[in-house]
Amino acid sequence: MADVVSGARVFLGVSGGIAAYKAAALTSTLVQRGASVDVVMTAEAERFIAPLTFASLSARPVYTSLWDFPERIPHIRLVREADVALVVPATANLIAKLAAGIADDLLTAALLAARIPRVLAPAMNGAMYEDPATQANLATLRERGYEFVDPERGFLAERETGIGRLAAEDRILEGLERALARRRSLEGKRVAITGGPTREPFDPVRFLSNASTGATAIALAREASLRGARVTLLLGPTLLEPPAGIEVVRVTTAQQLYAAALEHAVGADLIVATAAVADWRPALESDSKLHKSGEGMTVELSPNPDVLATLGERKGSSFLVGFAAETQAHETNARAKLRRKHLDAIAVNDVRGERGFGTGENSLVLLWGEDGRRDLGRAAKSALAARLLDAVEELMRIGSRCS
Ligand SMILES: Cc1cc2nc3c(=O)[nH]c(=O)nc-3n(C[C@H](O)[C@H](O)[C@H](O)COP(=O)(O)O)c2cc1C
Repeated sequence: MADVVSGARVFLGVSGGIAAYKAAALTSTLVQRGASVDVVMTAEAERFIAPLTFASLSARPVYTSLWDFPERIPHIRLVREADVALVVPATANLIAKLAAGIADDLLTAALLAARIPRVLAPAMNGAMYEDPATQANLATLRERGYEFVDPERGFLAERETGIGRLAAEDRILEGLERALARRRSLEGKRVAITGGPTREPFDPVRFLSNASTGATAIALAREASLRGARVTLLLGPTLLEPPAGIEVVRVTTAQQLYAAALEHAVGADLIVATAAVADWRPALESDSKLHKSGEGMTVELSPNPDVLATLGERKGSSFLVGFAAETQAHETNARAKLRRKHLDAIAVNDVRGERGFGTGENSLVLLWGEDGRRDLGRAAKSALAARLLDAVEELMRIGSRCS
């Protein structure tokens, strides 16, 4: 297989930690493997290592300020011209600033503006790394699609042994290669993703719904867009923000999602249906707010159209992936749904006690064909989105499709 690093344009951020000197060796390795490397340093990084070292190794200018040649808007240009942004080392301070959306220097502003994969290799004292503030910031960034090459346990500069040592260069290169390998894998493809809950109103202020937040759909949309796909996200009511740069169609009810799916999803190369669509809606919707009478109340329900089954019937040459949120007999039920709805694959998650909903971690198993099965493991939804698309792309390549 071709070396994905050869010819890659790497934005290499360096922040102010002791391990900054290791970024110099990494620059040399990347250049030797045929990458072009634009190094961006924080002001504090310059206390640890001189820009001249990076300039000599990369044979390119090193960027240290938002205000050098501002007419060229360096924080936007540098990330638009790069294939991947890698930060080695990433300090606790940098991670906190990124989690808060602070953009007060060239490196933080560029990373905030980046629509390319962002890979961070943190390095710091063990207590700093394990502090709940740092851990919360790392979780926030993971959820937003940042990738990490986690630090290792070992001898730290302050003569303590603990977690926080910069990952070995081989592991950083693996993280970079993973990000680069995915970068154009869905180029030219149209991907439609449904996500979030639906709301089924029975008066102007009340509705039936479920605990879905759309986090999985948003993570998948971001990942598919990073891979070069043209993405349409059909999104139910959620407070989560969809990623920039993709088409978002907002819906509220299952009937609206049904209409939107027929309009926007049919004909896509890949359809991933994660939406938690309400199976029923109130048969009658009152025009005005219902008032309590002290009596009980019965709400009659009518079935909603089956969005997934309809997509299965009309999928043509699309590759159709469904989701099954199950509370028991997960895989048996999911396999039945896979067949019944003519899906090409189905991702199963366990939603007992609302597990699987929300922005935390999830675990997924992907099923296809008669007995195809891959356990995608337990991870942040952003990491699971990447694993799911890796597996689905493989199935699309080998033409594993249901009739
Ligand atoms: C000798 C020395 C070593 C440091 N090493 C680290 C480190 O390895 N990791 C880290 O997160 N901070 C480290 N710091 C603290 C950062 O330099 C400090 O938080 C700084 O504000 C980071 O700025 P930056 O994130 O903009 O580069 C170190 C500070 C000193 C004085």
